[in-house]
Amino acid sequence: MEIRKGKASDFQVLWRILKDTPELQSDPEGDTYDKKWLKEILSSPKENLILIAENNEKFIGFAIVHYLKSVKQSLVNDLFVIKEYRKQGIASKLMKACEKDAKQKHFRYITGFVRTNNKKMQKLKEKLGYKKGNSFYFYEKRLK
Ligand SMILES: CC(C)(COP(=O)(O)OP(=O)(O)OC[C@H]1O[C@@H](n2cnc3c(N)ncnc32)[C@H](O)[C@@H]1OP(=O)(O)O)[C@@H](O)C(=O)NCCC(=O)NCCS
Repeated sequence: MEIRKGKASDFQVLWRILKDTPELQSDPEGDTYDKKWLKEILSSPKENLILIAENNEKFIGFAIVHYLKSVKQSLVNDLFVIKEYRKQGIASKLMKACEKDAKQKHFRYITGFVRTNNKKMQKLKEKLGYKKGNSFYFYEKRLK
């Protein structure tokens, strides 16, 4: 398994998964992501990190990280591994790679949101040494 940085040609696979994976949605209507946003993320490596996990050049998973520089925080917002490759430590390796990157940047925190019903991911975060914070409702307002 190799981990590389995301590039423009990863757009299609990332878009399909982001759109079709309920665990990655913050919006109950399943309308969290838009194409323009993803294109911007892929083309701004100073503000975001996209890591792609591959096995013999076959896509098997990804992590999308946003740098919140003013608060020295690395936010791992999206993490995904395709079904056939789960439970082999791929997500853990992606998380470790995100941590390494955040340390190199001298950030103070690495954070992430997990849906309250996503027990699998909560368990994994705790296994990796993440502390569960208080529960919040996620409020949003689309600005046009
Ligand atoms: C959540 C998700 C990313 C986990 O991916 P994964 O690659 O299966 O994660 P890991 O393999 O690192 O860890 C999962 C489990 O496999 C176990 N594991 C790791 N390596 C293993 C190995 N070699 N053999 C057997 N089990 C192993 C881990 O200990 C962990 O066990 P646990 O479930 O008892 O805690 C994946 O299920 C997914 O994409 N889900 C849908 C999207 C999602 O929920 N994303 C998170 C949003 S916050």
